[in-house]
Amino acid sequence: MAIRKVAAMGHPILRQVAQPVPENEIASEAIQTLIQDMVETMVEYDGRGLAAPQIYVSLQVVVMIWDFDPGVEPYLKVLINPEIESLTKETSTFPEGCLSVPGLQGDVPRPNWIKVRALDQKGERIGFEAKGFAATVIQHECDHLLGKLYIDRMTDLTRLAFTKEYGRYLSPGSEPEEGEA
Ligand code: NI
Repeated sequence: MAIRKVAAMGHPILRQVAQPVPENEIASEAIQTLIQDMVETMVEYDGRGLAAPQIYVSLQVVVMIWDFDPGVEPYLKVLINPEIESLTKETSTFPEGCLSVPGLQGDVPRPNWIKVRALDQKGERIGFEAKGFAATVIQHECDHLLGKLYIDRMTDLTRLAFTKEYGRYLSPGSEPEEGEA
């Protein structure tokens, strides 16, 4: 296991569409090591999520710290070959940051109710719905698998700022707490 280098905006791998993981390879040492390395790297850099292209691996794998269920201890969520379906046209806007776009934060409108289908780290099929900020985090991570960054989804670039200035001027009084992903 290892902490990997994180690709920064401008590296072409962040703009590629990632390949699906063949279902019969999920249990392989290569994929299990990739997942472990992604978790270690996310924790090292205080991320709340990480997608494989961010560590230079163009595969459809996402890891997230899932702390959105009230009364449930935070746990690791792994999504392999995820598919997202919007269940509403209504959007919510949250500030987002990204380990591949370090030091910046910006407001991104996204559908606020989604359905997710994916495989987990054991290759088992999972499906669930997510709302609000949880829906935003999933869409942010899965966008990495499509070669998209959150700034591509912004509709008002005056709402993009350095993290400190974001807290000072765009969201006065609020501490930046969302974490980069
Ligand atoms: Ni990101």
